Amino acid sequence: MENEILNLETKARSELDKIIESSELEQLETWRISYLGRKGEISKLMSELVELSADDKRIMGSLANKCKISLERIYSNALELMSLKSSGSNSENTYDVTLPGRLNLIGRKHITTLMIEKIVKIFISMGFSVAEGPEIESDKYNFEMLNIPKYHPARDMWDTLWVTTDQDSDNIPMLLRTHTSPVQVRIMESGNPPIRIISPGKCYRYEATDSTHEWHFFQIEGLAVGKDISFANLKATLNEFIYRIFGNERKVRFRCDYFPFVEPGVDVSIDCFRCNGKDVENCSTCNKTGWIEVMGAGMVHPRVLEGVGYDITKYSGFAFGMGVERIAMLKYGIDDIRLFYSNDIRFLSQFHGML
Ligand code: DAH
Repeated sequence: MENEILNLETKARSELDKIIESSELEQLETWRISYLGRKGEISKLMSELVELSADDKRIMGSLANKCKISLERIYSNALELMSLKSSGSNSENTYDVTLPGRLNLIGRKHITTLMIEKIVKIFISMGFSVAEGPEIESDKYNFEMLNIPKYHPARDMWDTLWVTTDQDSDNIPMLLRTHTSPVQVRIMESGNPPIRIISPGKCYRYEATDSTHEWHFFQIEGLAVGKDISFANLKATLNEFIYRIFGNERKVRFRCDYFPFVEPGVDVSIDCFRCNGKDVENCSTCNKTGWIEVMGAGMVHPRVLEGVGYDITKYSGFAFGMGVERIAMLKYGIDDIRLFYSNDIRFLSQFHGML
């Protein structure tokens, strides 16, 4: 039976070759019926298998099946080739060069990247330079040196993803940084004032996602340390930044807030650009308050400065931190942070050329 199968395949193939040469589509259909049709050679072969012993049935069955698959494949190739030929095309003339080409989608920068670039550019124009730090950070830089000791309740402000298998050389637990503030400490540790840096980067929180929360997001941290740096410098810098992002008709509010690494700490808000303070009771953008929080900031806590060995009688500084997606959401009226991570081209393409 093995020979019977092999002969069948050889015969079918040579007949098909001739049909392809003749370009007769009707002959191809006759070939299909006689080999692959319901009463064709392959079906006949399959029905003969019933008479074989179990072992032979297994071996011959598999061989017959292979033969069937191979004939089906060459048939569909032949059909494609012959149809192309009969529609007037051939291998040299398959394309109509007069048809307009299909446009390829061109990759562009993501809205988050564009927003970071825009923010960074503003601070660079004010004399800041860019610094970066690791995303896998140690407890020491993410918390301890920012005046957030172990077991301090303020740690609850940052739900943390711990990297339990990884410990740095001092056996200090490692984590995915919950904010970009640790870069402040790293920069201060590695140099002396005057310092003016801005640090964009990715952060992580052990958090459920919803329209305003993501477990990963981008922040930009800022730090200026030097002689005679005052709260007035902080206000002037952030006012300028806000005017350049949100327009200089905005009012800016600095209100006391708590962050362990600054004293005093503030939340920086702008007056609501949607309701303009007129329809506050019905405004969801400002949560019916008339104000929208833009970032946290403050004067660098003396303990943080001392921790990196700075003389606090000589130096002072200010720091601030903002969420990149949050700024973009406010500026462009995006109502769900998850859109930044969903790779939906309909969302992403809206921002081409806008930023
Ligand atoms: N790191 C803070 C956070 O993730 C944001 C922040 C607030 C940064 C105040 C600062 C600051 O530098 O002074 O919530």
